[in-house]
Order: sequence, then structure tokens, then C-alpha cells
Amino acid sequence: MINRRDFLQQGAIGATGLLLAPKRGWGSAADSRAVDSRIEVLFDEPLGTISPNIYGHFVENLSGVLFDGIWLGEKSPVANIDGLRKSLIEHMRKIKATVIRFPGGCFADSYDWRDGIGPTEKRPRRTNFWAMGESEKAPASHRYDPNAVGTNEFVHFCKLIGAEPYLAANVRSLPASAFQQWVEYCNSPAGSTTLADARAAAGYPDPFRVKYWGVGNESWGCGGEFTPQEYAVEFRRYSTWLPTYGDSLNLIASGPNTDDWSWTREFLTEVLRKGPGELRRIYGMALHHYAWNLSRGKTQDWVAGKGEAVRFDAVDWHELLREGERMEGLITGHWQVLGEFDHQHRVKLVVDEWGPWYRPGSEATPGDQLEQMPTLRDAVFSGMTLDIFNRNPEKVAMANCAQLINCLNSLYLAHEDKFVITPVGHVFDLYSSHQGGEALRTVFSAPNVHYDRDGQSTSYWGLKGSASVRDKNLTITAVNPSTSEPRLVEVALRGATVKEASMRFLSNADIHAHNTFEQREVVVPQTKPLSISGGTLVAEFPPASVGALNIQLN
Ligand code: AHR
Repeated sequence: MINRRDFLQQGAIGATGLLLAPKRGWGSAADSRAVDSRIEVLFDEPLGTISPNIYGHFVENLSGVLFDGIWLGEKSPVANIDGLRKSLIEHMRKIKATVIRFPGGCFADSYDWRDGIGPTEKRPRRTNFWAMGESEKAPASHRYDPNAVGTNEFVHFCKLIGAEPYLAANVRSLPASAFQQWVEYCNSPAGSTTLADARAAAGYPDPFRVKYWGVGNESWGCGGEFTPQEYAVEFRRYSTWLPTYGDSLNLIASGPNTDDWSWTREFLTEVLRKGPGELRRIYGMALHHYAWNLSRGKTQDWVAGKGEAVRFDAVDWHELLREGERMEGLITGHWQVLGEFDHQHRVKLVVDEWGPWYRPGSEATPGDQLEQMPTLRDAVFSGMTLDIFNRNPEKVAMANCAQLINCLNSLYLAHEDKFVITPVGHVFDLYSSHQGGEALRTVFSAPNVHYDRDGQSTSYWGLKGSASVRDKNLTITAVNPSTSEPRLVEVALRGATVKEASMRFLSNADIHAHNTFEQREVVVPQTKPLSISGGTLVAEFPPASVGALNIQLN
């Protein structure tokens, strides 16, 4: 039996066995046009402001993510801005990307930031954490990190997009002084320190003002195999003193894997052994959850339990969504544990890795480690997950989809001059108007979805989503998880009236639909008219869809 922790120590292991899935046909209910569902938005029940950082991203120095995905080099014939892929920057601006986590992941606890500054040609080559999982044919940069993308290049990437950098410090293999000096390099004022001079010599006299810092990553596993007590001691030590230069630093503690409640509880117990004031050090508690187990309860083995990214059947479609839906219970559960120690709930949750994780075999660029092909299923999954975050605005301060490009739940795929926006990338576009909005309690009612799970009939909700309002603009997003039935939905606003409304959605007659380098527009946003009668809106969510209603209020 192998689990994720062992896997990350041993390197990637392939798996075989493909399921051929039937194509989905459109259901007949669409033709009848009978309203079967309802969304009720309760304007007098605000839930809190949706942190724009919920719409965050994650970039690790892992296989094709950095080298090929993001970094092309200044001399590349492919369109770039200072060596960074131009088409990527342009789309990330469009979706208003807010925050980007770097350089890992597991890579972070083997990385020395000092290798990545100064003249590029003088930077050392180092063995990448992921080197042993790379194929013989992989580019050398995937195994032996040339350090061409260090702090300067990454922060420049963020600034070009208009996003905040979130840096993860190395707790496993560097001393606390290296963390302090990384903060000093990034944030000390121009001319103030030797490291500020080094930054200026690279062309960046102004401080980067990096606000978000992770204290390690998955410290229960690849980040050091700490017990929660041991990590708490390290957390106190690494956070005891860091230079701030007038801006407060938001420190994110390495948190639990999925439902490891005892990690959260025992970490906080130990941190607080020195007194309740210690809580002030923690801005956020990280939470990681990957939806990976599609074995329908047959195994907990990290390799055997995985499913197919593209060649799945309708049952796998539902099982994946239900694995992902666990996120809501994880947020509520860890929040409850946090509340046992932090009665005022100052410490927020930072879900800095989330997404589905399938077995290898669907890579757009063969050989790219951990790369998978996002389909319509992943778009619906991502919409569902973002809706969960939107519904819990007081609890979730940040979330980072794993990972941005050429990896797990990627928004983009790229190889050399080829670039494509995946269905997941389009979801971030559809959902961007939620950023900074006031979340409103919203009731979704729809017939349940039923399916056969290895001879046992099972069912779950038929429509779910979230709503938020900013100024006079209401955004309602939702997913229809049925692979065959459309949902015709009456939208009732309690406490506001509609001036204008439109809907954009993603769907396809084939639940496996995805965008490739050759066919880049198989799953793209479509626009639908919304009928309004007597102040009531009616919207249709096709089978297997994720949609956004943008409503202008009077
Ligand atoms: O996202 C891939 C890996 O998954 C990350 O490096 C690690 O933090 C997690 O286990």
C-alpha cells in the first residue's frame, strides 16, 4: 500500500488500465422547458466578503511547469516578456489572477533562494526535488535546475500580471537565518542593506513588498516528516523574528492533509504552549486536498486508487465530483478545530493546493511529470470547488489551484510555441466577478442525481453554487453535475430586482471534451439569453455544465 507521502519520496509511478466510456446524449427534459429547479438569493443574509485571493494559483519548479510552461528565456523565438510566456501573462491578466504561490510544493523545502539571484550565467545548477521521476528524455532543466527563474523573475512575472507573490520558505533543509534573509532580500528598502543592493544590481531597486510567506510545505511529509509537535516548535522558531519594514507579514503554517484533524489540533496545542499570544504569528493554516481516489471504496492505495483523466465512465464523473465535494466538510471541520484554540477566529484557512489528481497517461507533452489533460469534468469540479470557497468567505482567506500550467488541474497547457487555455482556465474567467464581492446565502433546489455505484443505487444534489454582489452587480455561479439532464432554473432574488442579465457557461455533448494544442476551442464559454418575466429569471444549465449569471440590479 502506498500513500501520497511515500509517493512523493519515491517519485512518480505509472499505472495502466483504461476504461472506455460511453458518450453522453442530451436528455429529453430540455425539450419540455419545464422549470424543475430554483435558486433563491437572500440579500438580507450576507455571509462575508469573498477574498480575491481565493482565486489564487500555484507554480512549482516541477517538470514542465516552470521551464517550458512559464519560462522561455529572453532569446526564445516564442512571444515572451523578459523571457516569460506572453500569452500566459495576457490570459492571467484577463482572469484577474490575484496571488501566485512559488516555488513549491515539495520543491520548496529543497530550494535555496540564494541560488536564484545574481547574474543568470553564474547561478549554480542543482538537482531538482522531482529529478528522479523525470524520464531519460526530459529536458535537462527538469532534472538539474539551472536557477534561471529565481525570486526576481518570479516576482516580475507576478507584477506583470498584477498578482501578489506568495513565497514558501524552506524549513526542512535551510536554517531560519536564510528565511530572514530572503525576506530582507525581497523587502528591505532601496539602499538599506547589502541584499537590497544585490536586488538593485539585478534591476529591482524598489522593494518587492512580499506579504505572504509559507513556513514550509507539507511538513508532515516531504517538508521534513515532522510530527505536528516538532513542526510547531520549528514554526515558533522560524517566525520569532522576521524583518517587516513597516508592512506586516502574513505567515502561513504548513497545515493538514485532507481530514487529518489531529495535525491541526496538535500543532496548535504545541504552538500555544508558550501562551495565547503565539496565535498572532499565524495568518493562515494551510489545507491541502486532492481528489484522487476513484476506486469506489476498494482501496486507499495512492497509485491503485487513481482514475483516468480522459477515458473515464459516467460513474467516475460523479465519483470525482463527490471526492472534490469533501472540501466543504474539510473547511468546516478544520475551522471547528481552529475555533477550539482561536475563539475569535483570527487564523484563517489557506487552501494552497487543491484539484483532481489522476494516474499518468494523458499528458499533452509526453514525459511531463504530473501533467494531466483537464476535461469538462475538471471544469465542473473547479466551479464546484470555487463555489465552496465563495460560500465560506469568513473561513477561507486564500486558495491556490494546483497547478497553473502543465501539471495537475492546470488552467493552461503549453509546449514550445503551443499554448492552450483548458476548460479549467475558462472557469476562472467565468468566476472572476466574484472577487471581492459580498457573498449572499443562496438556496439551491433541484432533483437529485442518481447513479449506480457498483450495483448500489446512490444519489447526490442536482445543482449547487454561490452568489455574491458588488455594487449593483450580482454574480451567481453553479454547476449541474448530471451527465444527461438539463436543469431549467427559476432564479428568485429576495431583496433586489433585475435590470439586465446574461449567462455564460461551459458544456459539451461529450463529458470527456477537452482542448488540445490542435483543437483549442472544444470547450469555450458560450453565451445564452436569459428570459425575464415578472422580475423572475429563468436560466438553463445544460447537462454537465458550469455557468455564471451576471445580473445588473436596479
Ligand atoms: O502539487 C504536487 C505536489 O503535491 C506538491 O509538490 C506537494 O506539496 C503535494 O503533495
